[in-house]
Amino acid sequence: MKLKLIVACVDFSAITSKVLEWAGEEAKRFGARVELVHVVEESMPRLAQELLDLHTLYDSLREVTQKRLGDLASEMEKTFAVEVSTRILKGEPFDAILDHVEATKPDLVVLGAHGKKGVKRILLGSVSEKVVRKSLVNVVIVKY
Ligand SMILES: Nc1ncnc2c1ncn2[C@@H]1O[C@H](COP(=O)(O)OP(=O)(O)OP(=O)(O)O)[C@@H](O)[C@H]1O
Ligand SMILES: [Mg+2]
Repeated sequence: MKLKLIVACVDFSAITSKVLEWAGEEAKRFGARVELVHVVEESMPRLAQELLDLHTLYDSLREVTQKRLGDLASEMEKTFAVEVSTRILKGEPFDAILDHVEATKPDLVVLGAHGKKGVKRILLGSVSEKVVRKSLVNVVIVKY
């Protein structure tokens, strides 16, 4: 088996380090490169939109996200000696991830079983559940 590109989905929740560990180990083993993907959800209650300067907010959010993803990428490059790039997407996380997977055709997608909501009693979060159900490429779900 040959893996060239592994997409790791990052939501900055506690499971992120496990997702990156898995993606990094596999990338090292197969000589693949890794792309860290984060989807910024640009949804906001209607009235909050009137209160906030959304352009400024989203610009800052994008900047902070880029910085945080970049830090994670450098750390992985050092730890696993693999090439790591980053990508910020916009929209509904599962949709954006699936569109991106279709467009870039990675060999593997890695997600956490849960994320920010971290509900342990259900099997999978809604993003990982939809991605694993609809993705045309192989998916690894990291449980802990
Ligand atoms: N915005 C996002 N960008 C990139 N990856 C994400 C994003 N949201 C979720 N993921 C990926 O999906 C995994 C599971 O998160 P998911 O959102 O499905 O669970 P949850 O937050 O516990 O539940 P919920 O369905 O309520 O959001 C995360 O570990 C991460 O790999
Ligand atoms: Mg979530």
